[in-house]
Amino acid sequence: MNMIVRKIEGDFSTAKIDWIPNDPELAQFWNAVSLGLPLLEGYMIRAVSQAKRELPESRADLKNDCEMFCRQEANHTKAHMKFNEVVRDSGRYPKLDEHIERLRDDYKRMDASRDAKDALLYSEGFETVGPILAAYFLVQANKRLTEQDVDLVTLSLWRWHLSEEFEHRCVAFNAVEALYGAYWARIAGIARAGTHLARFAISLSEYMLSEDIKAGRVAGGMAGRLRKTRSYASMLGFIIPRVASACMPWYNPKNLKSPAGCDAVLKIASETLDLNAMALRARDTV
Ligand SMILES: [Fe+2]
Ligand SMILES: [Fe+2]
Repeated sequence: MNMIVRKIEGDFSTAKIDWIPNDPELAQFWNAVSLGLPLLEGYMIRAVSQAKRELPESRADLKNDCEMFCRQEANHTKAHMKFNEVVRDSGRYPKLDEHIERLRDDYKRMDASRDAKDALLYSEGFETVGPILAAYFLVQANKRLTEQDVDLVTLSLWRWHLSEEFEHRCVAFNAVEALYGAYWARIAGIARAGTHLARFAISLSEYMLSEDIKAGRVAGGMAGRLRKTRSYASMLGFIIPRVASACMPWYNPKNLKSPAGCDAVLKIASETLDLNAMALRARDTV
C-alpha cells in the first residue's frame, strides 16, 4: 500500500467552533467526533500495534503497513487535540469532560476485559466506516467550499484526516484477514464500533447544541430541528447503504474508488504539511 506519514502543523487560534455557520448541527456532530478521536485513535493504535506484534515474520509488508497506520493515526490525534483545546477553552460546554471521561472509561473497560482479537475487530469496524465518511465528507466539503463563511482551517483538518483514513483503509482489514479471517466477527465489530461511537458523538453533539441554543448562539426551534433532520438524513442516507455493501462477504476496501478531491487534498497536504497553508489552497481542490 502507498501510505505517507505527514506530520501536519496547524494554528487554530482563529479557528471557529461554529465552522459551518449554515449548518451548526453538522459542525457540532463533527466537533463531537473530534473530541472523542484522541481516545478512539489511541485505542486503535494499541490494537494495531498488538496485531503487528502477532503477525508472522513472513508478513513484513503488513507489519510495515501497521506501523504506518499507527503513525498516521498519532498525527491525526495531535492535530485534533489542538482543535479540541479551542472547543474546551471556549468555556461554552461545562459538562464536556463528563462525556469524554465516560468514553475514557469505556476504553479502559475494553482494554481490561477484551482480548487483542476483539480490539482489532472493533478497530476494523471503525476503519470500515472511515473511508465512507471520507467519501461523504469530501463531497460535502466541496459543497461547503462554495460558502464564503465556512472556516477553512477546520475544514482542512477534516479533509486531510479523512483523506488519510481512505489512504490507510486496508490496514486493519488486512490484519483481521491475516490473523483471524473471521467474517461474522468482522460484521459484529462494525456493529459494535458503529453503535458505540454514534452513541458518544450524538450524545455529546446534542449536549453542545443545547448549550448553544441556551446561550443564543444557535437558533433552535422548528428551523433547527428541520436543519438537523436534513443533515442527519443526508449523512445516514449516504452512509447506511455503503456500510451494508461493506458487510458483503466479497468486500475488500482495496477495491473502493478514491473519493473526489481525495488525491488533490493529500497532494497539497504533502506539499505544505500545514493546515493554514492547506486552507489557503482549499478551493484549488473543488
Ligand atoms: Fe485517524
Ligand atoms: Fe484510521
